[in-house]
Amino acid sequence: MKVIYTKDYNEISEVCTDLIIEQLQEKSDSILGLATGSSPIKVYQNLIKAYEDKQISFKDVKTYNLDEYIGIDKQNENSYFYFMHDQLFNHIDIDHCNVNFPETNIDHQLACDNYNEKLFNNKVDLQLLGIGTNGHIGFNEPGTSFESTTHVIELDIQTRLDNQSFFNSLEEVPTHAITMGIKNILDAKKIIIIASGLKKAPTIKRLLEGERSEEFPASILFDHDEVYLIIDEEAASLLD
Ligand code: GLP
Repeated sequence: MKVIYTKDYNEISEVCTDLIIEQLQEKSDSILGLATGSSPIKVYQNLIKAYEDKQISFKDVKTYNLDEYIGIDKQNENSYFYFMHDQLFNHIDIDHCNVNFPETNIDHQLACDNYNEKLFNNKVDLQLLGIGTNGHIGFNEPGTSFESTTHVIELDIQTRLDNQSFFNSLEEVPTHAITMGIKNILDAKKIIIIASGLKKAPTIKRLLEGERSEEFPASILFDHDEVYLIIDEEAASLLD
């Protein structure tokens, strides 16, 4: 794992954007694994700017999002489908047929099987990740098997509390989601994980100084050959 220390959220976003631009310039038909949450918002803004400045095109790019809430339909502004269109896809030249999410409005096992099959046939070139305060990646909560593929997950109470700010109340935060599994994530050729702010400091300390364990899902990233962890001063503030 290559750790890149930056000053703040803006610098994390710049460094991360540059890596994605480099990927798209090297391979215009790249397959990107994308994340939601507050961490990648600025990266998506920067990518829109790079597209407008004609540095990159998404014409031949395919995307696979990590996860989607169960019980919220696509048009709801809290769905990850809505979030990604609002933050990125509606502002770039991507072919909307090339945008992929786990489907949550069909039989869940079928949805997981479909997504695994798609991911098996379309190896992600670059996977972007955030990290939950409990070490989750995608929605792979503590205790998820390192061998897991796309599956239904019951969200941790900590995750629901962390994501409550996007909703009106805790009751509105879904209890379940469909997420790519750890194995799907590790299949990506290159992985970028970003973390910013004091709230992530204990998480980053545990990631870099703790043990590899299914109780801390992000610890699996040390098994991968090409991972870039980009953090800012606040997120790094508890490191020895
Ligand atoms: C969410 C998402 C993750 C994301 C994480 C961190 O629950 N499912 O993919 O990385 O939590 O979110 P944030 O970037 O808002 O801290």
